[in-house]
Amino acid sequence: MSKLSTRKILVTAALPYANGPIHLGHLVEYIQTDIWVRFQKLRGHQCIYICADDTHGTAISIRAQRENRSEEEVIAESQIAHQKDFVGFGIEFDNYGSTNSVENKQQCERIWGKIRAAGLVKEKEIEQLFDVEKGVFLADRFVTGTCPECKTPNQPGDNCSKCGETYSPADLIDPVSTLSGTKPEIRTAMHLFIELEQLHDFLRMWSQSGEHLQPEVANYLKGHFLGDPADKEGAKKLRDWDISRPAPYFGFEIPDSPGNYWYVWFDAPIGYIASTQQWCQANGEQLSDWWENDGAEIHHFIGKDITYFHTLFWPGMLKTAELSLPTKVHIHGFLTVNGEKMSKSKGTFVKAETYLKHVNPTALRYFYASKLGGRLDDIDLSFDEFVAKVNTDLVNKVVNLASRSAKFVKETGLSATYPDDGGLFQQAAAIGDEIADAYEQCDYNRAMRLILECADRANPFVEDAAPWVLKKDPDKAEELQNVCTIALNLFRQLMIYLAPVVPELAEMTAQLLGDRLDDWEKSKTPLVGTPVGKFKHMMKRIEPKDIQKMVDETQKEQEEAAAATESNALASKYNDSDQPMVDEPLAEECTIEDFVKVDLRVARVLKAEHVEDARKLLKLTLGLGGNHQRTVFAGIKAAYKPEELEGRLVVMVANLKPRKMKFGLSEGMVCASGPGGEEVFVLSPDQGAQPGQRVH
Ligand code: MSP
Ligand code: ZN
Repeated sequence: MSKLSTRKILVTAALPYANGPIHLGHLVEYIQTDIWVRFQKLRGHQCIYICADDTHGTAISIRAQRENRSEEEVIAESQIAHQKDFVGFGIEFDNYGSTNSVENKQQCERIWGKIRAAGLVKEKEIEQLFDVEKGVFLADRFVTGTCPECKTPNQPGDNCSKCGETYSPADLIDPVSTLSGTKPEIRTAMHLFIELEQLHDFLRMWSQSGEHLQPEVANYLKGHFLGDPADKEGAKKLRDWDISRPAPYFGFEIPDSPGNYWYVWFDAPIGYIASTQQWCQANGEQLSDWWENDGAEIHHFIGKDITYFHTLFWPGMLKTAELSLPTKVHIHGFLTVNGEKMSKSKGTFVKAETYLKHVNPTALRYFYASKLGGRLDDIDLSFDEFVAKVNTDLVNKVVNLASRSAKFVKETGLSATYPDDGGLFQQAAAIGDEIADAYEQCDYNRAMRLILECADRANPFVEDAAPWVLKKDPDKAEELQNVCTIALNLFRQLMIYLAPVVPELAEMTAQLLGDRLDDWEKSKTPLVGTPVGKFKHMMKRIEPKDIQKMVDETQKEQEEAAAATESNALASKYNDSDQPMVDEPLAEECTIEDFVKVDLRVARVLKAEHVEDARKLLKLTLGLGGNHQRTVFAGIKAAYKPEELEGRLVVMVANLKPRKMKFGLSEGMVCASGPGGEEVFVLSPDQGAQPGQRVH
């Protein structure tokens, strides 16, 4: 790569779903991408890091409904939480947007118009399960039932966990909606489809040529979807892509198909463009310079689970809309923790927020970098390895170079000329291009190894030269300054190489040496004759006990969440509206002493009669056992006939101060619920209660 030409590079990471928090798995991607962007910026290229929240779809609506607030409220809260997490990990986006933005709607409409004009859209009736009670069409994952193949009960709507059969939810035996617990019915609805097959030749050409995809990805697409054109047997057809959902759906309504909405995966990738548009508006640039310009590169970073969308649908859409195609889609594997899938019960499904409370984010950035090799393999976060690696590499080998030398040159600063270091600085400078190449290829593992090899040569030098010994001999002041000048320059050189990975440490280094680590080329020239600041501690060792705290807290969060989900599930089984609580919020807290002042008693309605001229009242004669009686005028005439009440047990306030009314003295109150009028519901005790018993 020539350093003379400045590249124009647009980089995206996948847009995280707004319906969940950022966790350590997500961070594999956002950190990997952030490192690549910082690297490009350090190399002097114009590079922008674009992302947004992915806000549309069924999951958000369900959550909003469950939490009794609007979708907009839910996504606004997520946006804030996500951005806070990213800042916490030093992930610096140039623009962080939302797919629920005016810019995105505008871009969707523009691209949709082109796709329509190209004749790629067709309508089809499809059968889908509909939850009558909730009034929604059910996405696959909201249906369970018995597998039509092996008859195992409780299987998800798309494929059987026992026999592996795939099917559509409408094929399930005894399907149940997980939203309401009711049996959904099959309804037909019109959906819009994009006929991807029309783009088959283009997609084969694009995916199988150039370096747009990692070789294993290109092969996978060929084998599973595209086939080999030369081989008639192996010819495959691309399936039509269902891109609409009928109302109700949280998303954008399709302008030329009222009542239908774009499926979330249609508008989500367009969010890349919309977020770029926001950045352009804020920075006085033209969107077309990025998305309609062969001179600009577009790099998408994604996880392997969303390969299909980014390597077939998305290039197909871009091509049809006459926009720039991705220069490269960089695909990474999934995170495992201690060799297993992230697990809620084991406390390894750690949220970004929880991690940040206990462990240093720089450590995770470095660890992920050391693990990422630019391929699709899963990467493992073994806690033991994490602690050992960060402490050995970053703390002992890198930061230690500075902590063992900086304090001895605080008064003198660095030597005026760079002393003889036996070729160490030159040797490390000479592999700068190789390190840069490894970064460029996303082979950070290799970059870290090369950098640590330099550290492994620098450390013995400092140990042999032992500045802490030289310090004791006043005659060796010059040698001390020279040794520390070398140590700090070797340190600084490493920090320039590491700056994309550990920006916070790079910033501290800049503070210490009074010179910013903002240009890769600075790694080629030592710093001399400049002052050295006061050394501040840069990084503590990672303690296993802090990891344990993080795991424990995660486990606790999960238990609480599980308990809440369980009681919510029970509540949703009965589907009680929360309108009464909304209409009449809870009264101010009271004490038990307040409560016992009210003497509630079981009473029998001995007599119930109409009151002349009273529109709402019935006159009740209530018996409390023996000859204890009370007369009460109750406003329940619209809801009860007198004969319905006679003989039954009710609950009354028996010590209420009697009140003189137009029709006579009322000596208490009958307990009832409801807004009034015809909707009044008198309380009755269970069988066996005796008139006169106190209600506690
Ligand atoms: N909203 C879609 C992406 C739309 S892009 C136009 C989505 N969101 S996600 O929140 O589920 O995931 C965001 C990114 O994080 C994806 O690239 C996904 O692969 C990645 N990861 C989510 N969990 C992960 C791991 N456990 N490990 C590694 N990456 C993971 O998909
Ligand atoms: Zn089965």
